Amino acid sequence: MSEGTCNTMPDYLVHEAIEDYAFLSTGAEPELLQELIDATNENMGWPQKLSGRLVGRTLSMLSHLVQPKNALEIGMFTGYSALSIAEGMPDDGKLICCETNPRAIDFAKTFYDRSPHGHKIEVIFGRAMDTLDQLDMELDFTFIDADKRNYLNYYERVLEMTRPGGLIVLDNVLWSGKVIQPESEIDDVLVELNQRIAADSNVENVFLTVRDGVNVVRKVR
Ligand SMILES: C[S@@+](CC[C@H](N)C(=O)[O-])C[C@H]1O[C@@H](n2cnc3c(N)ncnc32)[C@H](O)[C@@H]1O
Repeated sequence: MSEGTCNTMPDYLVHEAIEDYAFLSTGAEPELLQELIDATNENMGWPQKLSGRLVGRTLSMLSHLVQPKNALEIGMFTGYSALSIAEGMPDDGKLICCETNPRAIDFAKTFYDRSPHGHKIEVIFGRAMDTLDQLDMELDFTFIDADKRNYLNYYERVLEMTRPGGLIVLDNVLWSGKVIQPESEIDDVLVELNQRIAADSNVENVFLTVRDGVNVVRKVR
């Protein structure tokens, strides 16, 4: 990231060879999730939306540690991250997933039907902000991964709904490196959100440079 300090955008966030090494040095996801990746690549447009092994195993690890009973995902796509989170939830846990793409929902459900964790997942079709307005629950764990223009709005609403000690995990907080050289309104949203989280004494956070950046936030009070 030394390019960032001399005011030019980096070509890559993490050196490709280092990224490959981290991938190979991280335990593999379950076979069903590997199949889900292949099927997403073959059948769905824009397969790079899927968060992949490093983010997925991070989510699974955090979920196993928190063992959330009530969880939320904003932006489910084909279900890779949802199934990763569900792995760490108790058998009677519920993960509510917000998604606007009916094709992605149908696709994901075929994998939920085959997973020992699929019964924990409830999909709600529609814009996440509308769904959030209707949800009345206390959250233990949330993954935010859609519609960057609304990231700050999602975060603030989810923070209100999160119990003290609960986690909020935000993907793509490096935004391909544009947070160090913002040029658009969306870039500005990400910059403001990252600043606000770091300055808020009501939360603790760690900003991980995993893939496109993962911010792990714990509500303290
Ligand atoms: C980056 S993908 C999610 C990837 C997924 N979390 C994973 O790791 O496999 C973002 C998803 O959010 C959905 N989406 C976009 N805008 C949305 C909105 N306003 N409300 C809910 N879902 C939305 C898109 O259809 C897309 O499937």
